[in-house]
Amino acid sequence: MERYPLKDDIWWVGAIDWNVRDFHGYETSRGTTYNAYLITDEKKALVDGVRHGFGPELLRRLRGCCDPGDIDYLVINHVEMDHSGAIPWLVERLGPVKILCSKRAKDALFLLYHGEGVAGWDITVVGTGDELSLGRYTLTFLEAPMLHWPDSMLTYVREPKVLLANDAFGQHLATSKRFADEVDPGVVMDEAAKYYANILMPFGAQVQKLVKQVGELGLELDTIAPSHGVIWRTSADVARIVDAYVAWSHFEAPARVALVFDTRWHSTEKMTRAIEDGIAQEGVECSVFRLNRSALADVARAVLDHRAFLVGSPTLNNGMLPTVGGFMTYLKGLRPKERLAAAYGSYGWGGGGAKQIDAGLREMGLTVMEPLEFKYVPTEDDLSACVEYGRQVARRVKVWGT
Ligand code: FEO
Repeated sequence: MERYPLKDDIWWVGAIDWNVRDFHGYETSRGTTYNAYLITDEKKALVDGVRHGFGPELLRRLRGCCDPGDIDYLVINHVEMDHSGAIPWLVERLGPVKILCSKRAKDALFLLYHGEGVAGWDITVVGTGDELSLGRYTLTFLEAPMLHWPDSMLTYVREPKVLLANDAFGQHLATSKRFADEVDPGVVMDEAAKYYANILMPFGAQVQKLVKQVGELGLELDTIAPSHGVIWRTSADVARIVDAYVAWSHFEAPARVALVFDTRWHSTEKMTRAIEDGIAQEGVECSVFRLNRSALADVARAVLDHRAFLVGSPTLNNGMLPTVGGFMTYLKGLRPKERLAAAYGSYGWGGGGAKQIDAGLREMGLTVMEPLEFKYVPTEDDLSACVEYGRQVARRVKVWGT
């Protein structure tokens, strides 16, 4: 089996999931990897595991680097099942192994794997600043609660300056290459942005805290090795992903507008195209997503990298269409900030769709323009009003945040 050295005596030993297409509602069109890392120093440490069913792949990769029975430590940075699912299976196949994890991770392991022998595991709790010498290399642990689970932790290998970052800085990207500089940079950043939008957007404050902590602890970063996707190993790539995380955590975005809508008899679609026209007339870039044909993960990513987004729906039973309702629920959980937003749509008699969206956007704490609604099929005058509305949005976006 191909061996993947990361540094002297540090190996990628994870698994490639080429075919996963749904990651708790996040459409992973390019699959993913579950990254685990093995350090073969005087003492041997495995950092992180893989998803249930991928244990044999991990074990084969371990055997390519050492006798798995010689592994002394298993560091569990995070207990979500894409990383811990195979650990009960693996622990049975390793020799006696000391498990290191955060206090919250230990508690969660008992709740997750109570039927799978966890009570017999040799678990030591570690916290921020704790160190473990493996011989030549030293591991330093860095708790990062809510980045993105309460138990989340990162492990820093001090001498080669490698940050084993778990879910931070990842991408859902299956590839036979292991490093960001070996694959199309556009694809990597596209997937990194989509991953941030769908998994880490609610946790910008925690991202900023982590970056600050890394600086305060004087942890120089030569390599950032996440638990999904490719590894950032060149100084340019490390700077690129850290800078991107800082910008995303502050909700910085280019001056462009996303129109997110669904339509029933094409009236809301006509409004969308007219608003798009108005935005374009002001020279502002616009992206359009029809919700019954777009992956929610892509639309969430658009909210991350557009300064404004408008949500359109016709009225159905005094409310919005179910596709729009699903999007609004998903978006509320991602807690977007610093965005200009607005609702629009057509209605037949009582209305209610755009009002319901408007209320949802206001509940999210966004800056919300007055909604735009028209009855039945929009007239030429109505469409001219939509064009003007688009121009107003674009004019505000151009100066938004400046
Ligand atoms: Fe990749 Fe939170 O698991």
